[in-house]
Amino acid sequence: MTGDTRTDCSGVRNVIEVEDLTKVFGTITAVDHVSFEVREGEIFGFLGPNGAGKTTTARMLTGVIPMDGGSVRILGHDIRREPVRAKQRFGVVPETSNAYVDLTAWQNLMLMGDLYGLDRARAQGRSHDLLETLGLYERRDQKVQGYSKGMRQRLILAMALLHEPELLFLDEPTSGLDVQSTQMILSLLRALNADGTTIFLTTHNMEEANRLCDRVGIIRSGKIVAIDAPEKLKTAIDRVHRIEVSFDREIGGDLLSGLAGITGAARTGDKWQITAENQDTAIRSLVSFSRQEGIAILTLNTLAPSLDEVFLRLTGEERS
Ligand SMILES: Nc1ncnc2c1ncn2[C@@H]1O[C@H](COP(=O)(O)OP(=O)(O)OP(=O)(O)O)[C@@H](O)[C@H]1O
Ligand SMILES: [Mg+2]
Repeated sequence: MTGDTRTDCSGVRNVIEVEDLTKVFGTITAVDHVSFEVREGEIFGFLGPNGAGKTTTARMLTGVIPMDGGSVRILGHDIRREPVRAKQRFGVVPETSNAYVDLTAWQNLMLMGDLYGLDRARAQGRSHDLLETLGLYERRDQKVQGYSKGMRQRLILAMALLHEPELLFLDEPTSGLDVQSTQMILSLLRALNADGTTIFLTTHNMEEANRLCDRVGIIRSGKIVAIDAPEKLKTAIDRVHRIEVSFDREIGGDLLSGLAGITGAARTGDKWQITAENQDTAIRSLVSFSRQEGIAILTLNTLAPSLDEVFLRLTGEERS
């Protein structure tokens, strides 16, 4: 059945509606009057540093922990009043693995199928396809105990997708995974989204949010500080590029910070940390400077800005 999800004035259906969501642990307000919507068919990224309240929010949205204030509607269902109905329609990849390590991947999937009331043939067919897609089919009869972190994460994703949910929640799905597992997961998420699955994911990885998401909500100390298309995030990232450079001889920091495109230069060890308004201009400046002065560049690396730097850009305030 379809919930009585509200549509906004442009006719877009909201599959997640959060209003004033709040969670308090003792003296810590982990989630502080958070409100946002996730539209049907989008990939929404919930971005924030460690301890910002991402997992706590995701747990309340999926009915794992009770909320202390506010309201959550998932696919038209109030998560407090109709948790079972809502859960039939979404899948969850939690922060910590929910697979039983004493069981094989296949047994975990069959158990999940039973939980969702799928008939055996459908559970088997889906499990086969998902394990193939995620590169685990050959290892299906091995106990999860012997799985690597990346394999476990792929299995959990398969478990979350078994009942073909129309909405998928993922809490830091690629955190700590290698390139291969990360790519496998991200490409499956893109394919699911292309087929119409709405995706809510938490991450502290700006580049991932940038590449994957249609919109990004940024949370810090339990509060939403910005919700926007990643374009704004991109602009903030582009403005605070960092370059690490080292030369074959001593030079003064004033010389570097005076170059076109460079806003600051600080020394750490034998390297200079350069902040740049425009990365391309800054690199060109460094190259022509070294040529003019007859200095050799020993190393030159471009570094992504830290979340803190982006927060400063987006909110114009120091971290509390
Ligand atoms: N069960 C709990 N009891 C007490 N405090 C908690 C509990 N769960 C979370 N917190 C606190 O709430 C705040 C938000 O934690 P949360 O796990 O939601 O952050 P997060 O954004 O997911 O961080 P991370 O990136 O490290 O996963 C933190 O200060 C954390 O210590
Ligand atoms: Mg977390």
